[in-house]
Amino acid sequence: MVICDPQIMRELSREWLREGKTIGLVPTMGNLHEGHLSLMRRAASENDIAVASIFVNPKQFGPNEDFAAYPRTFEADLAGCRSAGLEIVFAPTGSAMYPTGFCTRVEVDELTSGLCGAARPGHFSGVTTVVARLHCLILPTRAYYGEKDYQQLQVISRMTEDLGLGIEVIGMPIVRESDGLAMSSRNQYLDADERQAALCLSRALRAAQEAAAGGPVSAAAIEDAAADVIADEPLAKIDYVSLVDPRSLVPMAYLDEPGRLCLAARVGPARLIDNALIVPGGSLAS
Ligand code: PAF
Repeated sequence: MVICDPQIMRELSREWLREGKTIGLVPTMGNLHEGHLSLMRRAASENDIAVASIFVNPKQFGPNEDFAAYPRTFEADLAGCRSAGLEIVFAPTGSAMYPTGFCTRVEVDELTSGLCGAARPGHFSGVTTVVARLHCLILPTRAYYGEKDYQQLQVISRMTEDLGLGIEVIGMPIVRESDGLAMSSRNQYLDADERQAALCLSRALRAAQEAAAGGPVSAAAIEDAAADVIADEPLAKIDYVSLVDPRSLVPMAYLDEPGRLCLAARVGPARLIDNALIVPGGSLAS
């Protein structure tokens, strides 16, 4: 069932909650790939009702970003939702999501100041505004987000907790192509050479973990190991390479406990991100 009207979506979910049903929500911007489907399968397996939302949210794109070009593949997405076991899709129009007069902005401080927050001003307030609206309309028991957007996951978890919505935010591991490229709708912007060049991101993460294999080490050594791999790839341009505390996202100076290495690079027309948990003395986890 496709629901386009936020009021109907709210009434239905309130009815499910009154009946004591659990609700799983998977917010998406459509153009589904295996990463989204892994969230949906989990949502369907551990809730009475599982809902996916499909909405390309204009508020999270900057003026020079790819809102107009973002791939819209609604029919294929519906088939994907069904194959993952979801029967309910919430797909509002822009004017239903943001009706005339809508003037609320939800902003999370601190966690949004670095990484993609620094590179994409306004992006995270667009994300938290739409996700807060989705969470409030649907009041899911659990909401599922991928770790590929690691900063987004931390920001949404914090916001949901700070607003006291009583929703469990669940992060799921990055799903990769067989050659290591993290799945992303933006991979479609790459031509064959750029697609090959984009592998430098996952290679950089592996180099970083190798630099930490001997045990505690400076963050600079980890970041340099990763940055060198990306710098060696002529078609890639580094945006940031940063080792951060996995919860606070504050840059680490020294890796003596697990840290999250976050990368962003431009490859041809696409801005790609990737990340992994780097464990001193360990091997690459995800
Ligand atoms: O990760 C995404 O696809 C989007 O940022 C989200 C969470 C659906 C909000 O528009």
